[in-house]
Amino acid sequence: MQDKIKDLNEKLAQAYLGGGEKRIEKQHANKKLTARERIQYVLDEGSFEEIGALVTHRTKDFGMDKQQFYGDGVVTGYGTIDGRLVYIFAQDFTVFGGSLSETHAEKICKIMDLAVKVGAPLIGLNDSGGARIQEGVRSLGGYADIFYRNVQASGVIPQLSAIMGPCAGGAVYSPAMTDFTLMVENTSYMFVTGPNVVKTVTNEEVTSEELGGASTHATKSGVAHKTASNDVECLEDIKKLLSYLPQNNQEKPKALPFELGDELREELSDIVPDNANKPYDMHEVISGIIDEDSFYEIHKDHAENIIVGFARLGGKSIGIVANQPMFLAGVLDVNSSKKAARFVRFCDAFNIPLLTLEDVPGFLPGTDQEWNGIIVHGAKLLYAFSEATVPRITVITRKAYGGAYDVMNSKHIGSDMNFAWPSAEIAVMGAKGAAEIIFRKEIKEADDPEAKWKEKEAEYAEKFANPYSATERGFIDEVILPKDTRRKLIKAFAMLEDKEVNRPKRKHGNIPL
Ligand code: HXC
Repeated sequence: MQDKIKDLNEKLAQAYLGGGEKRIEKQHANKKLTARERIQYVLDEGSFEEIGALVTHRTKDFGMDKQQFYGDGVVTGYGTIDGRLVYIFAQDFTVFGGSLSETHAEKICKIMDLAVKVGAPLIGLNDSGGARIQEGVRSLGGYADIFYRNVQASGVIPQLSAIMGPCAGGAVYSPAMTDFTLMVENTSYMFVTGPNVVKTVTNEEVTSEELGGASTHATKSGVAHKTASNDVECLEDIKKLLSYLPQNNQEKPKALPFELGDELREELSDIVPDNANKPYDMHEVISGIIDEDSFYEIHKDHAENIIVGFARLGGKSIGIVANQPMFLAGVLDVNSSKKAARFVRFCDAFNIPLLTLEDVPGFLPGTDQEWNGIIVHGAKLLYAFSEATVPRITVITRKAYGGAYDVMNSKHIGSDMNFAWPSAEIAVMGAKGAAEIIFRKEIKEADDPEAKWKEKEAEYAEKFANPYSATERGFIDEVILPKDTRRKLIKAFAMLEDKEVNRPKRKHGNIPL
């Protein structure tokens, strides 16, 4: 691979009008591959067809007419990944810092238009100093042309962005409007205003990395869906992510060959602890259910109280939304609601069935949450599930308390199949808190209030801390043994394969943003 890249670089260096080798050396010294190396790496060998290789900019101002580079700072075209057509652009930092001119934007728009017309994913590899300063408003217009197309393509074709260098100012809004943003650690950053402006306006001292590096966006802001330690890993991530997705919203993701065999998974039986207050790792439940090593986690380090990601079940691509009892007991809060809602909407737009694994004690109380709008953000998840028409299945592993029971893909909001493990507790709240409220008088007046509380807690738990009263009502379709979960889910998703839902005509709903 290294030899091939070297060979390619030599050829390409000649294509630049002067100074090509030095520019490439600088890119490598900064631990980055060049635009063409990136394309070469991510696409199937020999599949890339370049479009607009000889485009040059039209600016005469500031002596720009004397500085012309073929391609004008972006390499665009199409090729295949695992034999599937994709459109791709890679900004070339070696030419005017990958900055976006009017013609640079036109090249990107051209392949975006083709991607939508043909119905194939769009991959954007971003590495740019932003608006081409010498072009003024023509560059800004170019950005807006791209933004507009990002929105028109949203929900029609998958759009993936990798940030592999600078991405600052308004430039951040194109990746932000694509479906997934991947970032490379230490060599990429994204921010609307950089450290200098921050210092002037707020007097805060902050580095580019702290302000908008990969780890900041993967943990704090949630802007990055995934991070990689270098360019190659990031490009591998793109390939893998794509394998779970269909080409466009009219297709289903490609299934891998699968035959039903012994699908019992004994290891699932021992994961949920007897003590309802003890945490466990929902990742173990996920791996016990899905095809081996098939989980591709999204937003792994952001809002860890909920887990979202793609997996394969019986060879088919599914999206998983799962509460994580290991973090904040798996509560729903502002960030986890937003994270899950966005994922649910993506899966729904691209025909990826949804599996919800539920162990949720409710919404997180507190002024911080209320003042930051848990009402409107929690509503996003409720809305996203309610509008989703893909096959939807829920398995309650333990707690399903309060409003969170409704929100986490309950039967009432359109889930198709709802299973519960025998350890499920479906109630308005935990037995202890419930007993305290409804038996307050009795407890207070008892000779031994503590014993009375315990007795009432047990009474409430006996009635509701189980899956059976919900099953009697039909809110749960079946109580299943943990070890049988994989088999039940494979069969239920197969049964739902041809599900079709027709909604009344409307322009679009009004999701609480
Ligand atoms: C034109 C640019 C450029 C730009 C970099 N270059 N950014 N040319 N327009 N925006 C050129 C440099 O002049 C230099 O040319 C080459 O690219 C490499 O840049 P360096 O500065 O040498 O690289 P480095 O030290 O790695 O620094 C990278 C950088 C810095 C941090 C990105 O170049 C920088 O701060 N650029 C300006 C960023 C910026 O303010 N952009 C506008 C943001 S506003 P030579 O010929 O010397 O190699 C914006 C609005 C978008 O983008 C709004 C959309 C709605």
